[in-house]
Amino acid sequence: MSAEFEGLRGNVGFVTGAAQGIGEAVARKLHSAGMIVGLADVDGERLANLAKKLGDNVLTRSLDVTDGDAVEDFVDEIEKSLGPIDHLAHVVGIQRFGMITEFSEDDFDATFDTNVKGTFLVTKAVAKRMLPREQGSIVAVASTAARTPRIKQGAYCASKAAMAQMMTVLGLELGPHNIRVNCVSPGVTNTGMVQRLMATMPNTDVITRGDLDSFRVGVPLGRVARSEELADVVAFLLSDHSSYLTMQDIVVDGGGALGA
Ligand SMILES: NC(=O)c1ccc[n+]([C@@H]2O[C@H](COP(=O)([O-])OP(=O)(O)OC[C@H]3O[C@@H](n4cnc5c(N)ncnc54)[C@H](O)[C@@H]3O)[C@@H](O)[C@H]2O)c1
Repeated sequence: MSAEFEGLRGNVGFVTGAAQGIGEAVARKLHSAGMIVGLADVDGERLANLAKKLGDNVLTRSLDVTDGDAVEDFVDEIEKSLGPIDHLAHVVGIQRFGMITEFSEDDFDATFDTNVKGTFLVTKAVAKRMLPREQGSIVAVASTAARTPRIKQGAYCASKAAMAQMMTVLGLELGPHNIRVNCVSPGVTNTGMVQRLMATMPNTDVITRGDLDSFRVGVPLGRVARSEELADVVAFLLSDHSSYLTMQDIVVDGGGALGA
């Protein structure tokens, strides 16, 4: 049990992208804090494995966040079987690489569908139910790429900037209704997403040391993040420990964006 997030005990949460990486760490963190959690991911097999390990107080659904009907249906099921959703952690995101001059329209559409439309569909489905209850907190995982340009990440950077800004608007709209909305922006975090990127790099040292040719500044703390370090900040933002914090984008990057 996480003593520091004791206030979350018994609350109902919804985590997207929960099958692995940061989403899995968030799901584990919230569950260990005593929350009842609905978990969604397009990778149903991994999700089922996680649910088995977590045990009680877990409801899972294999779904694609770009499918609005599927999102609505699962949010409805969570509310009917677990109770009203108190906290949403929307973690799903995809990254496709390529210079803008060579990037395919299909990859562009997939990036925006998942990262922007998916964020819209998930946060809308949850927020409209929180609204009449005048209670809740929402965290969406953006990226330092929203504010720091990265070579071969044009669509990804643009999609993260779009979803992060949409979350500030949602926070503005929901603030008067006692619902807080924040983003967490990871730097480089050791997950499947980053391992796939590293597999394409001849020398992965450049991630932490920096590299002028790719305009990487490196990571002042000298290492990439563990998913659990992101999950701690997500849990903090969902909890009452951050009760006066809304419309913020908390950068958790070991200093990689140089505080920008
Ligand atoms: N890992 C990093 O260094 C890093 C850095 C900055 C931001 N982020 C962001 O953090 C979030 C999580 O990243 P991660 O590194 O854990 O990624 P990951 O690839 O390890 O995990 C992402 C999960 O999302 C699921 N998913 C993908 N598309 C989906 C869809 N359409 N519907 C439902 N589920 C879907 C995948 O099956 C997977 O389980 C993403 O939004 C990512 O952009 C990650």
